[in-house]
Amino acid sequence: MNILVTGGAGFIGSNFIRLVLDESEQRIVNLDLLTYAGNLANLAGLEQHPRYRFVRGDIGDRALVAGLLTAEKIDAVVNFAAESHVDRSIDAPRVFLETNTLGTQALLEVAADQQITRFVQISTDEVYGSLGAQGRFTESSRLQPNSPYAASKAAADLICRAYHQTFGLPVMITRCSNNYGPYQFPEKLIPLMIANALEQKPLPVYGDGQNVRDWIYVDDHCRAIDRVLRNGQPGEVYNIGGQSELPNIELVKTLLAQLEKPESLIEFVPDRPGHDRRYAIDASKIASELGWQPRVRFAEGLAQTIRWYVANRSWWEKIRSGEYQAYYETMYGASGRHAAGPTPEDS
Ligand code: NAD
Ligand code: DAU
Repeated sequence: MNILVTGGAGFIGSNFIRLVLDESEQRIVNLDLLTYAGNLANLAGLEQHPRYRFVRGDIGDRALVAGLLTAEKIDAVVNFAAESHVDRSIDAPRVFLETNTLGTQALLEVAADQQITRFVQISTDEVYGSLGAQGRFTESSRLQPNSPYAASKAAADLICRAYHQTFGLPVMITRCSNNYGPYQFPEKLIPLMIANALEQKPLPVYGDGQNVRDWIYVDDHCRAIDRVLRNGQPGEVYNIGGQSELPNIELVKTLLAQLEKPESLIEFVPDRPGHDRRYAIDASKIASELGWQPRVRFAEGLAQTIRWYVANRSWWEKIRSGEYQAYYETMYGASGRHAAGPTPEDS
């Protein structure tokens, strides 16, 4: 199979490409715009790989995508390309709709024109909104996105469904929980906290720190996507989760303990607007229908991830020395949204 992977220079896409090249004979063309989150260093060593080619470009560029699908004899598309950070979507929502929703529609249109045989849309559990203390998201949970990011992904899911129902495009949608592992951009919770701790900087925990996420090691997510790509039923949605629910504050304390850094580095900061309280995934459908289960236990995956960030300091230091500094200031600086100071809980 010849696969077009979009967004393959980001965190999950780059891990997926390495896994597929290592464990199969499939050929991959990686189409990535190289936004702030795209980084060719994530794919270092693959440049000369005989079954891999990188193309810089936008998923919304129909002519480029159409040309690639024909020239490269593409059979399947796996769409990772997205603006992926909730906090950024609060400050600048429009690009989320442009890339995540309209970009996906453009890709679907070209894929349908060219009768692509498999199309996997990488969606997220955030489309379901937020849970209370009980219950888990199933594939039939209502779509109730709360952030502009989540809404742009939910809209993309609906247009994917429409391309299956109306045009017969064999689209499958995956909705996964929070990933962690090597090459995750250090704006996301785990790499941000590891990097700050290693640099003795404060660790900004939003609100009361009791928001719960269901963590999955990135390799497990990639293996699930591979299953869906090979064996998923067109028109179906598959939830993917790690069975590792944890309140943020517990996770941050665990990271500090493993790094042998003091808890005094923790700083409670004003909450994210519209902050979803809890995510938890029921992944029984993909388990029973496609035989997928997560392999990596959270303690093991986290230790591996910490080792990777310690050993690859130059990877994240380079990122943090660039435009990232302006982002960090906007978020966490003295007049930023998450500036340290009294939180609602203190008053
Ligand atoms: P990321 O931000 O690390 O990477 C996104 C990649 O998409 C980057 O390489 C970027 O350059 C590229 N991109 C952005 N706009 C593009 C465009 N218009 N055309 C082509 N490429 C473009 O994101 P990630 O964390 O690897 O997430 C990948 C996908 O998985 C996203 O669709 C996200 O919604 C979904 N997802 C992420 C998680 C998670 O925990 N990170 C969980 C579930 C689902
Ligand atoms: O659930 C899947 C989603 O997980 C993906 O669709 C998104 O692309 C991905 O970014 C992630 O979204 P979250 O908002 O859950 O991840 P983030 O790492 O931004 O935050 C995780 C939790 O940690 C969340 O409750 C907010 C909190 N947090 C985050 C940051 C960056 C903090 O307390 N402090 C921080 O500085």
